[in-house]
Amino acid sequence: MARATSLYVCQSCGAQSRQFFGRCSSCGSWNTLVEQTATPTDNRRRRPVAAAPEAAMPAAPRRSEPIAAVGDRPLQRLGSGYGELDRVLGGGLVPGSLVLLGGDPGIGKSTLLLQSAQAMAARHSVLYVSAEESAQQVKLRWRRLAEEQGELSPVTAQEAGGAGLQLLAETDLELVLQELEALRPAVAVIDSIQALHDGELGSAPGSVAQVRECAAALARIAKRQDTALLLVGHVTKEGMLAGPKVLEHLVDAVLTFEGDRFASHRLLRAVKNRFGATHELGVFEMRGQGLTQVLNPSELFLGSDEPSAGTATIVACEGTRPLVVELQALVSTTSYSSPRRTATGIGTNRLHQILAVLEKHLGLPLSRFDCYLAVAGGLEVEEPAADLGVAAAVVASYRDLTLPPGTVLIGELGLGGQLRPVAQLEQRLQESARLGFRRAVVPKGSGLGRLAAGLDLQLLEAGGVAEALVAALGVNPADDRA
Ligand SMILES: Nc1ncnc2c1ncn2[C@@H]1O[C@H](COP(=O)(O)OP(=O)(O)OP(=O)(O)O)[C@@H](O)[C@H]1O
Ligand SMILES: [Mg+2]
Repeated sequence: MARATSLYVCQSCGAQSRQFFGRCSSCGSWNTLVEQTATPTDNRRRRPVAAAPEAAMPAAPRRSEPIAAVGDRPLQRLGSGYGELDRVLGGGLVPGSLVLLGGDPGIGKSTLLLQSAQAMAARHSVLYVSAEESAQQVKLRWRRLAEEQGELSPVTAQEAGGAGLQLLAETDLELVLQELEALRPAVAVIDSIQALHDGELGSAPGSVAQVRECAAALARIAKRQDTALLLVGHVTKEGMLAGPKVLEHLVDAVLTFEGDRFASHRLLRAVKNRFGATHELGVFEMRGQGLTQVLNPSELFLGSDEPSAGTATIVACEGTRPLVVELQALVSTTSYSSPRRTATGIGTNRLHQILAVLEKHLGLPLSRFDCYLAVAGGLEVEEPAADLGVAAAVVASYRDLTLPPGTVLIGELGLGGQLRPVAQLEQRLQESARLGFRRAVVPKGSGLGRLAAGLDLQLLEAGGVAEALVAALGVNPADDRA
């Protein structure tokens, strides 16, 4: 009989030590070591379910083979019932894969997964394991969402003759594994991985050892019986997925669900995806009856139709998806010794850089002015392609000018004041034209004149920031009489 010993496990990186330290010697995080009692033999005394998938197969000798000779198996994908979720997953759920969905508390993770589980249940067998809420709580939410479901998924479980949605409210990993073995569902949702508990480990639910063991046991069973698993993961105060990094390595895709507390829209992104591109964006809106897909997100990020001073429109690309977004700038005389610069939705360093370029190359005395910048709809724009739009919004606010309506600005600003080409310009122009924009200011040499003519879009090409702003505003902003 092994003696129980104390072990200190870092909740950030999973490193173990026999001694307590205030700072983890492996990852350097402070106050992350937690004491756990571990019996050394526990990890080896595994249940049969948790055995490696190879163990279940005949013990054929494994040899390498030429890659071209490896048997083809077409990658099937299960539609999640939501086009926006499928887009982020790279086309749908892959059988036998693990997807981890992280997000702030109350952002709508359970809602999203319950809705898609219900939609998928029309065609596949789906198990929803609720480890956080009671069966009655989930039922209540399910009933509330049911009204919206009719609108979102054209087929209901009964019409399609699907197996329907099975619910299990359980926190014991052993029982969850047994149910997965008995049902062999095509899709299973685990809400959440931190709430599951493996009785064979001495540590508390949510600790590194528990999360790692539970996820590994689930991964083995998922791979063995080709069940697509959707795991909900909690997010720490710092916005990291709680639990060891090893959890992110273990799963095939990591999605994050984010949104502004004050706005109703929610953004779904892939941080990692073994079966598709990352940086794709899915947009949802939280309504009383649940989450609805936003199929035309540009409309969400466009402000009012009334043009106002200091407003510019840019086209940001999120993955392959162009989004037309409105920017607003406010430039006012500063009463501080060093002027205030605040940017929401765009990095402050980026704003500083653009202001410096405008000061140097247009001669505008912006260092004597406060500058505030905001992206409509709470979207985060990381792309440098927004630079020209930011410059135009700042200059328009400074000069109290209104940009002609129907104008979009696309281009990256170099430190020398030159306008740099951006990727996916064609898609950006198409999206602008679709939304009724008639003028686009773009970097020189795009070669898209014919495309723009076909789209009925006036293409204004410029080599530098000064030239671009003259084209956009119709006046020279460097001219004091403007
Ligand atoms: N009765 C209701 N009517 C309208 N909206 C509701 C109702 N109940 C919940 N919501 C919305 O759903 C959100 C909670 O969603 P959900 O429980 O799916 O979040 P979660 O990410 O799973 O949270 P947690 O991390 O706590 O599990 C609430 O913030 C609220 O906006
Ligand atoms: Mg939840």
